[in-house]
Amino acid sequence: MDKQSSSMATISKRLQGKVAIITGGASGIGAATTKLFVQNGAKVIVADIQDDRGLSLCNALGANDTVSYVHCDVTSDSDIKNAVDTAVTKYGKLDIMYNNAGILGDFDFTIQGSSNETFKRVFEVNVYGAFLGAKHAARVMMPAKAGVILFTASLASVVAGEAPHAYAASKHAIVGLMKNLSAELGQYGIRVNCISPGAVLTPLASNTLKIDSRVTEKMMGMVMSKGMVLMEPEEVGNAALYLSCDDSKSVNGLNLVVEGGANNGKANLSLASGVKDLMKLFYKK
Ligand SMILES: NC(=O)c1ccc[n+]([C@@H]2O[C@H](COP(=O)([O-])OP(=O)(O)OC[C@H]3O[C@@H](n4cnc5c(N)ncnc54)[C@H](O)[C@@H]3O)[C@@H](O)[C@H]2O)c1
Repeated sequence: MDKQSSSMATISKRLQGKVAIITGGASGIGAATTKLFVQNGAKVIVADIQDDRGLSLCNALGANDTVSYVHCDVTSDSDIKNAVDTAVTKYGKLDIMYNNAGILGDFDFTIQGSSNETFKRVFEVNVYGAFLGAKHAARVMMPAKAGVILFTASLASVVAGEAPHAYAASKHAIVGLMKNLSAELGQYGIRVNCISPGAVLTPLASNTLKIDSRVTEKMMGMVMSKGMVLMEPEEVGNAALYLSCDDSKSVNGLNLVVEGGANNGKANLSLASGVKDLMKLFYKK
């Protein structure tokens, strides 16, 4: 490698020497981000409940000292503690905590059809899980006086009518948590931000609706015809990379919307009518 390409390689490795945990890292946005982080020189711990998927992703990506899997249910304080302590034991520090794990709950957009149990479960995973991740990350980042805490919220945190009530409310809560944490933790050199993706083709919707991913793709196509843009998980991963590396060293307390142009003024109407079509398809409502 000549001198110029060797220095280009160093410049392109934007997370060289950094240690990251990615919750929900076995699938979708988390898996794409894991790949990007590894390519950019980070050591990554994939924390998820899908053990087979997480392990095979890590095996495909490289050696155990670069990327490894830990079983971690984000709703369990001891599991999150274990994931954070594993990073510190293995690598001596934790630089980036990406609280990305999340669930949609169900696909009913009406208040009367919303199940109480689903509402509680969505908050348990999406909000309490993110809170635990931030709490244990801050425990080790505060003494180090450095770190990045990141969350995946959703376009549902800024656009109405695009998601079931529990999901939309949980993603608003994540933005609130992120902002409050950024106010507290900035003095310790810890930056706290979140990403709000629009529609991304991942197993999230297929798993919730218990349908084949090809059917989800068709459904997404319907919504897209209403003006929505469907993104690849890597596009959200790129935002996570930006918010985790020094390029964003002055960015704190930001909800970064990554939606491919869907939210350009008409989004409220176009998304809401798109999801209503989907509901008609599935629930005859
Ligand atoms: N796909 C989209 O269109 C979209 C849009 C906006 C926001 N998001 C958010 O992006 C994040 C990632 O979702 P995705 O689309 O990649 O879906 P996904 O289903 O592919 O990935 C979610 C991951 O979270 C894991 N997970 C679920 N419950 C967990 C728990 N209790 N503990 C640990 N891990 C758990 C799952 O096993 C899975 O690997 C979620 O927070 C989701 O709400 C997705």
